[in-house]
Order: sequence, then structure tokens, then C-alpha cells
Amino acid sequence: MEEEILITEMTEADCDAVTEMETTYFTDSWVREDFSEGIKDENFHFLVARRQNEVAGYAVICFAADESELINICVREDVRRLGIARKLLKSQYITALNEGALSMYLEVRESNVKARALYMSEGFKEIGVRKWYYKKPAEHAIIMVKDLKTAPPGVGNEV
Ligand SMILES: CC(C)(COP(=O)(O)OP(=O)(O)OC[C@H]1O[C@@H](n2cnc3c(N)ncnc32)[C@H](O)[C@@H]1OP(=O)(O)O)[C@@H](O)C(=O)NCCC(=O)NCCS
Repeated sequence: MEEEILITEMTEADCDAVTEMETTYFTDSWVREDFSEGIKDENFHFLVARRQNEVAGYAVICFAADESELINICVREDVRRLGIARKLLKSQYITALNEGALSMYLEVRESNVKARALYMSEGFKEIGVRKWYYKKPAEHAIIMVKDLKTAPPGVGNEV
């Protein structure tokens, strides 16, 4: 039977769980205030994925004019490969389209094979490299973009 994954807006009540994940899985992590203040910013959209009533993942985008950017996406290690990141992305495409964005950009560590595989499978294309963009450890960023007009409408939970 398919796991039930619920995609909802991130709220203040989610910020502790999200911050714990962020500091566990990223070396250059955001602090709690980045989430608790960010959720009030109308140029950003923060989503969480819930599974069995617990936060299982989150995704953050921002938008400006006709572009959007995936700022971060993360799924708890014990529930990976269940399609949670894909579901978060699909919900964020809908948000971005509704905000007038035609494309979604992102940067990903060159060595992040899992994330790059996710993005490629979602139709993102590699368009460039930002040399030594990341610190802790220093590494190049691959720049990717997806044409949102080709995203299938209505996939993922509406929020
Ligand atoms: C990258 C990440 C978000 C993927 O989350 P996830 O919920 O496991 O991903 P999904 O189950 O939705 O996977 C969707 C697709 O991505 C690709 N993918 C995901 N994990 C993969 C892996 N370990 N190896 C190869 N491909 C992978 C596959 O194409 C997969 O489809 P499939 O399972 O049908 O083959 C997760 O591994 C994570 O949180 N990593 C740490 C944080 C991070 O690196 N974030 C990205 C910052 S740019």
C-alpha cells in the first residue's frame, strides 16, 4: 500500500523539527530563525512533508518576477526513496507557477549524486558551474534549471 504523505505549509510549530534536520544533513545549515522568520516572507514558500504525523521533509523556494529558485530540500534519512522529495517538488512547481514563475533554478553540490539524480529525473537541465560556490567543504555548484511550463499540472497535494 502506498505511504500517505501529506504536504502542508511550514508553520512555527514545525521549526524545531526542520532545524534539527537541517543541522543533521547540511554543514552550511540555516539556523532556526531563518525558518521562523522566513515563513513570514511573502517572496518565499516553505513546505513540509508529513508522514505518520511527523515532519519527514521540507522544501523552500523563493520567487521574483518570472523566475523561482529552489533554496533547499531535505528528507529524513529513514524515509528516503519513498518519493517524498518528488512530492515536495511537484507542490512547489504549482506554487511557483501560481506566483507567475516560468522557470525554477537551483544550485547543487557537484558531489551530491542523489540530489542531482532527483533533479535530472524531474526534468532539470544543467546549465553551468559556479566555481567554489560552497564552503565547509569547498566545492563547485552545478546550476540547473527547469522549464515549469512543461511540469504536469495538479500533481502533488494542493496547499
Ligand atoms: C536528495 C533527497 C532530497 C532525495 O529525497 P528522497 O525523498 O529520498 O527522493 P525521492 O524518493 O523523491 O526520489 C526521487 C528520485 O530521485 C532520485 N534519487 C533519490 N535518491 C537517490 C539515490 N540515493 N540514488 C540515486 N537516485 C536517487 C531517483 O531518480 C528517485 O526516483 P526513484 O526512487 O523512482 O528511482 C534526499 O536524499 C536528501 O534529503 N538528501 C540530503 C539533503 C540534500 O542533499 N538536499 C539537496 C540539496 S541541493
